[in-house]
This record gives sequence, C-alpha cells and structure tokens, in this order.
Amino acid sequence: MEQMVTRVRALLHGGDYNPDQWLRYPEILERDAELMKEAGCNAMSIGIFAWATLEPEEGKYNFEWLDQVIDRLYAHGIYTVLATPSAARPAWLAEKYPEVLRVNSDNRRILFSERHNHCYSSPIYREKVRAINTALAERYAHHPAVILWHISNEYGGACYCDLCKENFRKWLKEKYGTLDELNHAWWSYFWSKNYTSWDQINPPMDNGEHSLHGLIIDWKRFVTDMTVDFMKEEIEPLKKVNPDLPVTTNMMGFYEGLNYFKFKDLCDVISWDNYPDWHKGDDAELAIDTAMTHDLMRSIKPGRPFLMMESCPSAVNWKDYAKVKRPGMHELSSLQAVARGSDSVQYFQWRKGRGGFEKFHGAVVGHIGSDETREFKQVAALGERMKGLSRLTGSPFLSKAAIICDTENRWALADMRGLIKDDKGYLKEIRKHYASLFREGVNVDLIDEESDFSSYDLLIVPMLYMLRAGVAEKLKAFTANGGRLVMTYWSGIVNETDLCYLGGFPGEGLDQLCGLQQEEIDTYYPEDQNSAAIANTDETAGFEARYAITDYQEVIHPTTAKVLASYESDYVEGMPAFTVNSYGKGKVYYIAASFEQDFYTALYQNLIRDLGLKSLDVSLPEGVYMSERLLSDNTICYILQNYNTEDKIITFPREMTCLESGEKFTSLALSAYGTAFLI
Ligand code: GLA
Ligand code: ZN
Repeated sequence: MEQMVTRVRALLHGGDYNPDQWLRYPEILERDAELMKEAGCNAMSIGIFAWATLEPEEGKYNFEWLDQVIDRLYAHGIYTVLATPSAARPAWLAEKYPEVLRVNSDNRRILFSERHNHCYSSPIYREKVRAINTALAERYAHHPAVILWHISNEYGGACYCDLCKENFRKWLKEKYGTLDELNHAWWSYFWSKNYTSWDQINPPMDNGEHSLHGLIIDWKRFVTDMTVDFMKEEIEPLKKVNPDLPVTTNMMGFYEGLNYFKFKDLCDVISWDNYPDWHKGDDAELAIDTAMTHDLMRSIKPGRPFLMMESCPSAVNWKDYAKVKRPGMHELSSLQAVARGSDSVQYFQWRKGRGGFEKFHGAVVGHIGSDETREFKQVAALGERMKGLSRLTGSPFLSKAAIICDTENRWALADMRGLIKDDKGYLKEIRKHYASLFREGVNVDLIDEESDFSSYDLLIVPMLYMLRAGVAEKLKAFTANGGRLVMTYWSGIVNETDLCYLGGFPGEGLDQLCGLQQEEIDTYYPEDQNSAAIANTDETAGFEARYAITDYQEVIHPTTAKVLASYESDYVEGMPAFTVNSYGKGKVYYIAASFEQDFYTALYQNLIRDLGLKSLDVSLPEGVYMSERLLSDNTICYILQNYNTEDKIITFPREMTCLESGEKFTSLALSAYGTAFLI
C-alpha cells in the first residue's frame, strides 16, 4: 500500500476496464486511453474476467494484447490494477475438468455458465489458477505501470461437492479432535443427532441438517477458511515474484457469506464495491447506511485507508429499478467514500459492452462512445476535482469510538429461533447507535469481536448474542482501564458454538461488568409499544422525560448498577430499562430495550461531551455530515457533505481554510449536494 501511494501520489480514479471484450475494435481501444485521460482517470482494473483471452488453450498464453493495453495506458499516465482471472474460467477448463464446477446446496453440479462459481477445494482449479497467476506475475509484477493486484472478484458462495464435504470433515476433526467433543459442542443430543462417525456429517444442504446451529456456524466458518486458503494460494506465486506489489480483493460490504475480517492479513489494502439505491427514499438517510458500510470495510484494517474499487457513475442495471444518478449525486456519493477513508473512486465500468448481461450498466463511456454525455462529463469534473485532493492520499481515518459489528454473531442471530423470526434486528440496532454518532460528526469504526479494543474511548456492544472465548475479558479490561462501554439487551447469551451460558446472562462475568442479571426478554408484536421514564440523574442531563420502546424489552435485576430509566407500562412497569455501572476506572451503560432513535442521540451527545470526542465543535444542520482524515503533517481535514437539495449554512467555532482554494471563513454556505474539504 505504502509503495502504491508513493508511486501514484494521488487518489485513484478509474475503474474496471475490459479491453478483452473489444479486441476486434482497435480504434475503440486507442480512443479509450485518450478518453481516460480526458476524464481525469489514473488507474484501471484490467483482466478481471479475461482468462479465456489470456489462456485460449490450456497452457498457451496470449499476453500481447495485455502488453499493448498496459503500455498504451501507461503512456497516457494511467496505472494498472491487474486482476487474477479466477472469478470466471474458460470453457475448455470446465469441459476438460468438470470437477472445477461448483455443486450447489441442492447437490447438483452446475453446467459451465455464469461466474463466481468454482469449487474452492478443487486441486485442479487451484493448479490452473496458480499457473496463470505465475505467468501473469512473471510478466507484469515488475512492470512500472502495475501498482496493485486485484485478486479474483467478489469471492463468495460455497461448494457442496464430495471433496468440499471431505474437507469440511477434516476441518472439524482438527477443530474438535473427537466426536464426543463435537457432539457436545453442537449439542447433537438434540433430536438424536449424536454422530458416531465423521462420515455421517454433512454441510447444511437443502435436504439436510438445519437444526444444529453449531454445525451451520462451523460450516460458514469453514467456507470462509476455504476461501481464505484459496486466496492465499492465489497470492503466493504473485508475492514470490514481487513481494512488494500489494494485493487486494474486492469485497461486498455487509455481504454475509464470508467473514471478511479473516481476510485482513492477506490483503495489503482493503477494497470494496459500493452500489447504493440513490434517490429511492431519503438520500440523507441512505448516506448513513453507505457511510456505515464504508466504515465496516475500513475497520477490517482500522485507521488505514481503503479503496472503493467499484461504484456506478449512473444507473445500476441489476437493481429492481435502474435509476440514473441525479446531477450532483455522483460527485457527492463518490466523495463520501473519500470522506470515510477511501483513497480511490473507481467504477464499474469504464465502457458499456455491446452485449451480455451488463451492456446497460452505467459506465463512463456509453455506446455512443462520446465525451459529450452527462455521465462522462460528471466523471471528468470529479476527476479534475480529485487532482486537487491529492494531499488526502494515504491519510488515516482515526476513530475514538467503535461499534462491534461481528459477522459470526450475525450468523448466529440469523439461525437462532426466538425474538423476531425473520430479522432479529441486529443491523437495525447497530444502525441506531451509529446514526447518532455519525450525525454528530464523530468518526466511528465498526469492528469485530476479535479486534483490538484498546485504542478506543467509547465501545458499543449491541446485541452481542455470541460471546466468543476471551472477549468478556477484553471488555472488562477495556472498562477497567477507563473506557465507556455501552451494551444492549441480548448480549452474552451463547458461546462460540452456540451453546447457552449457564448460571445467568449476560454470561462469562459480563453480569458483574454490567452490574445486573438478565432474567427474560420479551418480543413485541409490531403493534406493541412501551416507553421508559428517564430518572433525574447527572448521567441523564439533556435526556427527554420519556422515550418510546419497540421490538424488545428485557427484565433485568441490578446488583450494583444504578437505574437511569424504568418501564412505564405492561407487567414490567417500574422495572429498570437503562442502567449504568461503575467498573474500575470506567463505566458500563446497559440498554435493556429497543429505544427510539432520540434516546441514543441524547446518550451519545452526553458521552461525546464527557469524553471530548469532537475535535471541532460544530453543530451540523440535518442532512449535513462531517468526517475527519488526518493529513501527513497531522492537520485534521474536515470533510463536510450536504445531502439536502438546498444549500445549508454551517458556522464554525474558528476560522477554517478550504483545502482546495485556500479561502478562509468562519461560516460556509454549503451548496445542495456539495462537499467541502476544510482544515
Ligand atoms: C459487481 C461485480 C462487477 C459487476 C458489478 C455490476 O460488483 O464485481 O463485475 O458485475 O457488480 O454492478
Ligand atoms: Zn467443491
């Protein structure tokens, strides 16, 4: 990553480029390089789905076209992000070695088709990928134009072939050693599932086992491990030739098929593909969700810049409604990535193909082939603006507040029966905490249970149902050392194989940390409501008198915790709904019910003030958001964005300087959809 930054010295701007689809159109390939320059592009991702062109026959490589493309672009000042082509295989490969094709959970092997659907176990697939990756590395890993490896594309899904089943059993043997241990960990005694031979164990196929949650979670862990292992094997031959050329793989935000945090050591830089539904509802609300997704991705390597590897300059053709971006939204949404720590704005795709599934997907260049389109002009305008933002390149995004958003916990909550069946509300609960902090302009990380908590002042733990080994100790140490912890209902319920903690919730000693015992949780029907009255205490200064509650309420019994709010009706009337407990040098707030948004806002406004989490005390109008990136001379760059369709005035507590124009002011009229970079 560092090497890439020093070579390019600018934010990356460009996208997926598929010259392999255009080899019969040399004039178009020539024109592309000129248009890219005109659009202010400096990096293109090449070869992502080009295996059939790179290796038209087994072992016979054809690199001349790629040499020409990379060299032509480089001559125009454009770098290459070079892909390994494993995400889609050539027909000859599938024909000769059908075992590379995935078996779906219905136990049927697919035909040669589509993409992203190979077997991760297949030794022959791994061998063929290694061969092409070796050839690519030998030819390009030291090419001055190549700045980054783009490993495969959007890894995802699982294979249920016999080989994968065998590997799953091996993985289980390594994890548990004996069937006795496995049967206990999975509570296989339930419905007489006690396994007496490893061969009896199958993944959760469509016609198979779904009642043992330990099995399902282990299967998902195994799928992640297999994918990580596959990626490791993809990277090996590349690093062998040039260990300094960084690698990334493009992820998919909240995609739940993989635990992306397990890829952290493999990726030199995190990258992801961003496709929000702009203009569907309230864009100022959607901007909170997209910021949260950027933050989740960035937090895989906390503090470090990431790359937005794909986004759409206009209409996304696979959506239910292929809506085009309204004027101004392209710049606003692209710069949001930069605001949240991205060192790039990359697109899918550079040019619309003539045929195939994605021919109507937004692109910088349309079928008309001109630079006169609105799509092209807005990309070019952004490219021009990004040239003036190169000081941001490589600048960290540092947060003093973090929310635990754990993928394995998400899996576990999704499987468990209880609470609200279809959606337990995990991400909804996380979003409430996030939205309140985000609206205040406080940087936030979204980390997982295994991350290091020690650099944060505020740690938020919503619905941490699955509390894995060692995490309770980390939470205690965090609080004892002076941290503020916010924990919600339905935390500390099961261990890592989904076995309930015995002897009281929240388990593993979190009851002592929170100073209470949880007795039961009630799930509301959609029409049910309760409320809580806020007690008059120092902790609750600035809160309203009461807040509405929906979805869930717990019955809790404080031991050492102080009550800050109590239920106002139902059989829980008068019982605590919100408490605080002192622990070591820190404090733990426990939220026993699902409160309305304003409650979280009041809580976090207090905590932000107490902990001094704001480096610039500015009050932000509704729909105006602020992020901070730290420039290399330790100056903080404040990035303000206006998601409203009218201008908004922002008044600052000190004189601010515009990073781009050098202009100074203490008050700013930020235009509709405008972005300002201030120091
Ligand atoms: C994904 C893929 C791309 C392309 C886009 C279209 O992100 O990685 O290859 O299909 O979707 O939106
Ligand atoms: Zn398989």
